[in-house]
Amino acid sequence: MWTQETLKETVKEKLADFLLVIVSNRQPFTHIVKSQKIICQREAGGLVTALHPVMQAAQGTWIAAGSRPSDFQVLNKDRKVMLPPENPSYGLRRISLSKEDIDGYYNGYASEGLWPLCHISYTRPIFTAANWESYQKVNRMFAETVLKEIGDQKAFVWVQDFHLVLVGKYLREANRSNIITSIFWHIPWPNLEVFQICPQKKEILEGLLAYDLVGFQIRYHADNFLEAVNRELECRIDKEKNSVTYQNHETLVRNFPISVDREDISKKAASEGTVDRRKQLREEFDLENKKLVVSVDRIDYTKGIPERLRAIDLFFEKYPSYKGKVVFFQLGQISRIHLPRYKELNDSINAMVEEVNWKHSQNGWSPVIFSRNYMAYDDILVLYRMANACIVSSLHDGMNLVAKEFVAARSDGQGVLILSQFTGVARELTDALIINPYDRDSFADAIGQALNMSPDDQEKRMKKMNETLAQNNIYRWAGKVLSQLLKFEFKEEGYETSVGILGESKRRP
Ligand code: G6P
Repeated sequence: MWTQETLKETVKEKLADFLLVIVSNRQPFTHIVKSQKIICQREAGGLVTALHPVMQAAQGTWIAAGSRPSDFQVLNKDRKVMLPPENPSYGLRRISLSKEDIDGYYNGYASEGLWPLCHISYTRPIFTAANWESYQKVNRMFAETVLKEIGDQKAFVWVQDFHLVLVGKYLREANRSNIITSIFWHIPWPNLEVFQICPQKKEILEGLLAYDLVGFQIRYHADNFLEAVNRELECRIDKEKNSVTYQNHETLVRNFPISVDREDISKKAASEGTVDRRKQLREEFDLENKKLVVSVDRIDYTKGIPERLRAIDLFFEKYPSYKGKVVFFQLGQISRIHLPRYKELNDSINAMVEEVNWKHSQNGWSPVIFSRNYMAYDDILVLYRMANACIVSSLHDGMNLVAKEFVAARSDGQGVLILSQFTGVARELTDALIINPYDRDSFADAIGQALNMSPDDQEKRMKKMNETLAQNNIYRWAGKVLSQLLKFEFKEEGYETSVGILGESKRRP
């Protein structure tokens, strides 16, 4: 089994002369000014949940965009800050983007173009030539920063997600033989008909094929990608090796389902200190003697939040005896708020919460608490541990790590996960109550079923899901990616690690 220790050892033994560089748009932590002091806060989203523990083990450099001026006040002379504050183990190097860059590259091309293109949630993607220009410019800035960071060293450059497709291509243009590159695509990859909407489809595919390794969450997304490559480019696909050769460069295509640090989450959620915190949270939100159902999401149209509120409304219509006895606590983390689609979503969620609460409230009790306030990560784990159920109702999701975090926090064997069939994680956590978020009736019934489930049944399901997570934890995910990358270095037929032989051969052309 992979652990933080085995990953650390692999990195120390096998990557000793390599610098590991992770590159992402979103940084793991931000430094904000509060009461005239700069404090460090963890950022939202699954990417951070997954990669922060990996970097703690691997101790390389993380390059990401800073979010606010105070982020740049804490940097040392190498433009880095060491993280996490309580136990510094890796460096975060921040890139400063102008408002125009953020508008064109992040709000525009990535969030209004690629994000809806890749998610089936009926929001039309918007592509403009100006946003594409900006996307290229910022990707080049990231690549230049990577090159500055690594100097002459050998490096594994591991790029994350749809914001930075072109970084690999710009790194290759620098003609450096001692850089091995990989990109992990955290979100779904659409089918061919949808992908063809993208005006820059060829450039996006060429960008991805500049990497040595391209990773997807599930096989289906990798297959969609291969289909697009096959249709759009003159290339050779080796089905045995799952690789694509394009313009004399071979790229491996793999699926690696991302995960969480189950051990750490379960330890934190069960620790002594959480007992008091649970009591405080119960008092703060008036949860005494009530069942609790939690959800934690970035406020995004892919997460199915309106569908969830509609199901909650129907649940109280169908099962009125639950009125006054259950509270739905939704933590909504604000995201991409400068985009009209996200503003609209926020407004409609406010109106729906008002409506559901007005309709069903009685004797000082209201069914839904919708909080947009920042909540410390450890408090979120406490919330998971207190809950009778957790709802993940995404309309489409590459993986969804909230589901995995909830399960990891429940080493007590209690709690029910209600999980959308349209998430990558539904393929792994098959003992959840699987729902179709578009089917309001059966969604409402699943809530009833969860709140009625016997402790025995809860325990059986939770145990199985925890076993799955114990096997497929975040260190295994990172270990599998790094083992694939190591084959480039050793050019072996199957590289052997402390946890077995991984994969088949890869020779650099
Ligand atoms: C998704 C994406 C990540 C992103 C996260 C937060 O999980 O796959 O790349 O970091 O959302 O989104 P945001 O736009 O707020 O960075």
